[in-house]
Amino acid sequence: MKASSSRLQERTLEVTQFNLVLLGPPGAGKGTQASRIVDEYGVPHISTGDILRSAVKNQTQMGLEAKKYMDAGELVPDSVVIGIVKDRLQEPDTAKGFLMDGFPRTIPQAEALDKALETLDRAISKTVVLLVDEDLLIKRLTGRRICRSCQTPFHVYFNKAKVEGVCDKCGGELYQRDDDTEATVRNRLEVYRAQTEPLIGYYDAQGVVVRIDGAQEPEQTFADIVSALGPGK
Ligand code: AP5
Ligand code: MG
Ligand code: ZN
Repeated sequence: MKASSSRLQERTLEVTQFNLVLLGPPGAGKGTQASRIVDEYGVPHISTGDILRSAVKNQTQMGLEAKKYMDAGELVPDSVVIGIVKDRLQEPDTAKGFLMDGFPRTIPQAEALDKALETLDRAISKTVVLLVDEDLLIKRLTGRRICRSCQTPFHVYFNKAKVEGVCDKCGGELYQRDDDTEATVRNRLEVYRAQTEPLIGYYDAQGVVVRIDGAQEPEQTFADIVSALGPGK
């Protein structure tokens, strides 16, 4: 009796788990869609970029080391980022699933994530790939403003805050990221093509990729994601 109820519990957990990866170039709208996706599916948002920026802000040793790479638009070493994610997966709120934003970004990171999940008897459910042309990415990134408190992204033309410089969601102050200058943006896009884009093939081989047109209005992009993943609520 006890064994069968715990088996049932396991199966229920399996069915309701959303182990999601959000993949796409810088400026594709990962952060923008992430806040909507986590509301819909009730999973935590794990953004390695946000975790690293908070380490930079707090001037931890990891933050000081990471800043050099981030300001140049290069990737932070795999060992650092993989450590961050493995620690984060130990937190109890990831039991129902998670949304990875900006991780993995290299094949070794994807392999390390698969391995870590395997030890937990889990696997990636879906990888959502946001597709956007390069010209639009540059416009989006150079006009982006972000909330210092809740990290919600806004845009000076495409996604204006109701009150200039103030977050609609929490009233926090909006700022521009150090790596959103045009020269750094171009390098980030190159790094994406060389090191991260091959992950689409990696996840295609697992049959979990969902391709979404990320050039549409944020609401339409989100509607397409929900129709591909199935409703969460
Ligand atoms: P990270 O913070 O992950 O940045 P990124 O991948 O470069 O992506 P962005 O955050 O710039 O873009 P986004 O897709 O989230 O777009 P957003 O929604 O904001 O990484 C930063 C750095 O940290 C890396 O360069 C690296 O150094 C390091 N790092 C992080 N993870 C790492 C890892 N795993 N390994 C190694 N190093 C790592 O949208 C952009 C703008 O467009 C916003 O202004 C938004 O309002 C607007 N917008 C969004 N969607 C739309 C839409 N549909 N229509 C109109 N405007 C829109
Ligand atoms: Mg982001
Ligand atoms: Zn905010």
